[in-house]
Amino acid sequence: MRTKIVAGNWKMNKTPAEARVLIAGIRSILDGTNCPVEVVVCPPLVDLTVAAEALKGSFIGLGAQNMHAAASGAYTGEVSAQMLVETGVKYVILGHSERRALFGETDAQVNAKTKAALAAGLVPIVCVGETLEERESNRTDAVVTAQVMGSLADLGADLARCVVAYEPVWAIGTGRTATPGQAQEVHALIRRMLAKMSTGQVANTVRIQYGGSMKPDNAAELMAQPDIDGGLIGGASLKAESFADIVKAAC
Ligand code: PGA
Repeated sequence: MRTKIVAGNWKMNKTPAEARVLIAGIRSILDGTNCPVEVVVCPPLVDLTVAAEALKGSFIGLGAQNMHAAASGAYTGEVSAQMLVETGVKYVILGHSERRALFGETDAQVNAKTKAALAAGLVPIVCVGETLEERESNRTDAVVTAQVMGSLADLGADLARCVVAYEPVWAIGTGRTATPGQAQEVHALIRRMLAKMSTGQVANTVRIQYGGSMKPDNAAELMAQPDIDGGLIGGASLKAESFADIVKAAC
């Protein structure tokens, strides 16, 4: 049995002071609940120190939204895996579709970052997903397969430590969710790909989250699908109640 994992991707929202308030709100609902779900919040970089403080004593883990693959050096504006680790970060979202589309991240770069994250002991949450145009031209399987094979190449046994997030780009921030059936179909494809890249056992270990307009009212049905092991939540993670409700739906 895979432990479900629900992560909040705050994107570029919440100042450090606001992060403290949101985390306190989430903790006031979720601390003490006996829910066997891994819960993660991923605030902006400058919030991480405050967030680590605010999460002390909680079962909720801290994640970042990006990092550089190199250990150090002349990369103005970037941060390394080790810097995140020393800030209390345990997870890092990599290759989010916004980073791919707006900042030109390639599968090769995501792969390098994934390797660096694993080497530092972080859990990478590696995002894949097709655009609307790709779906409508029946290229979903080809696009997602290429992203999985490229972004997760050559990880060996470490593949089992990765989390994959399937996020159809057309469902992100649009209010348009993939149906449970549509999502399950791609999740099953991803798991078959993972089995080809490693072993069936490793593929059965990897958690595959769904992301894209996941909300309290659709979360339970999505996460009831056999290959959907949690969610990567954008908009609905910015309010304590809706994020906590999604976590509860995973319990
Ligand atoms: P959304 O974003 O829940 O606001 O659609 C999900 C994501 O981009 O991770």
